[in-house]
Amino acid sequence: MPKDIGVAVIGAGMAGKAHAAAFRTASALYNPVLPPVRLVSIGDVNPQFGSIAAQRFGYERNDTSWQAIAEADDIDVVSVVIANSLHREVVEGLLAAGKHVLCEKPLSDTLEDARAMAEAARNASSIARIGFTFRRTPGIAYIRDLIRNGTLGKVLHFSGRYWTDYGFSPDAPMSWRYKGGPGSGALADVGSHLTYVAEFLCGDIRSISGGRFSTAINKRPLPLGAVMGHDHAAVSDVFETVENDDYAAFSAEFDHGSGGFEVSRVAAGHANSLIFEVFCENGAARFDQRRPAEIELFLNSGPSSENGYRQVILGPEHPYLSGGLAMDAPSVGFGQNDAFGYQARAFLEEVAGLDEATSLPRCATFDEGVHNMELLAAVAESALGSGKKVTL
Ligand SMILES: NC(=O)c1ccc[n+]([C@@H]2O[C@H](COP(=O)([O-])OP(=O)(O)OC[C@H]3O[C@@H](n4cnc5c(N)ncnc54)[C@H](O)[C@@H]3O)[C@@H](O)[C@H]2O)c1
Repeated sequence: MPKDIGVAVIGAGMAGKAHAAAFRTASALYNPVLPPVRLVSIGDVNPQFGSIAAQRFGYERNDTSWQAIAEADDIDVVSVVIANSLHREVVEGLLAAGKHVLCEKPLSDTLEDARAMAEAARNASSIARIGFTFRRTPGIAYIRDLIRNGTLGKVLHFSGRYWTDYGFSPDAPMSWRYKGGPGSGALADVGSHLTYVAEFLCGDIRSISGGRFSTAINKRPLPLGAVMGHDHAAVSDVFETVENDDYAAFSAEFDHGSGGFEVSRVAAGHANSLIFEVFCENGAARFDQRRPAEIELFLNSGPSSENGYRQVILGPEHPYLSGGLAMDAPSVGFGQNDAFGYQARAFLEEVAGLDEATSLPRCATFDEGVHNMELLAAVAESALGSGKKVTL
């Protein structure tokens, strides 16, 4: 086990702050002791964003280039939390410098870059993982357990949507999220999460069909200053073209069962609605990210006049929560930020060399990140081919 672990986060934006906070809490989760975690640097080209985040989350310094972090001897682990199109250069540079890298999803904005990153990861001496944060969501992990242990049993049908509304206003400023090739919009941004969750629950997707994209708002105003995440900053009267999808829909076939998917960034009133229902041979389950501390469960048992969906409030008997909350009592509530803590903890456990059998499930590999992008590429191929079936 290393005597300590120095961490840095590249990107002090919306999700970068979640990573910065997560490394802070990771060593306070669960009983096996991690080596001391040193919070070293927040790297952001915007020095103001970087220094505010470093002060807020207790990091020793901020840097304004990824190269400074790659060269720093006091840093072992780096989260890469910047625009998807920037992941490849930074991740490859960090791996070449021997850093352990936790990269945000999707792995990149092109399949070619994602495959090159997976190749770099295979050849690296350090660990490279991708942060599909929703695999850390207790309700989703519990539904997976119910499928796998036969309580729900074999999946027959999955219906999922990830509706967001950060782009429904035409005044929402232009950002990196609106630039890129087919499928790099809502599909890559939130469809990457939804497809990952679907396969996490239901197994591998074998084919995609019925792909459909639409761009509801074709031009967006440039912001007057730097914009973080989905902030509605002041905008100029100069407009740029939106290059990718505001909305995507498609169907999928699993080894067992089929699925329907819909993602959006113009779903007014739904800031962050990852919602799915999974129908199985013995019942069904439903999850709604707006109510992350509960699931709904239907088990087909007892008289049909009495059965139906019931609410299950999650607590210490469910995945991640026992020891994963400072006060791990029933019904205390928790949310998406906690999942970033479990993700950071899982990555640090792997870096520290803790035994896999007694650790949190490992973070996904870059090869899984490539697979996820192949799914997204199949959706794009289907959409560009008038909904044709694409086999994976
Ligand atoms: N897992 C999740 O739930 C989740 C949620 C949101 C975003 N994300 C992912 O996180 C990544 C970042 O998204 P975001 O919403 O935080 O973006 P953001 O736009 O809010 O922040 C990006 C930050 O990167 C900085 N930056 C730009 N170029 C840089 C460079 N070359 N070096 C260092 N910093 C640079 C910007 O100044 C900005 O502060 C994306 O890959 C996104 O898909 C994941």
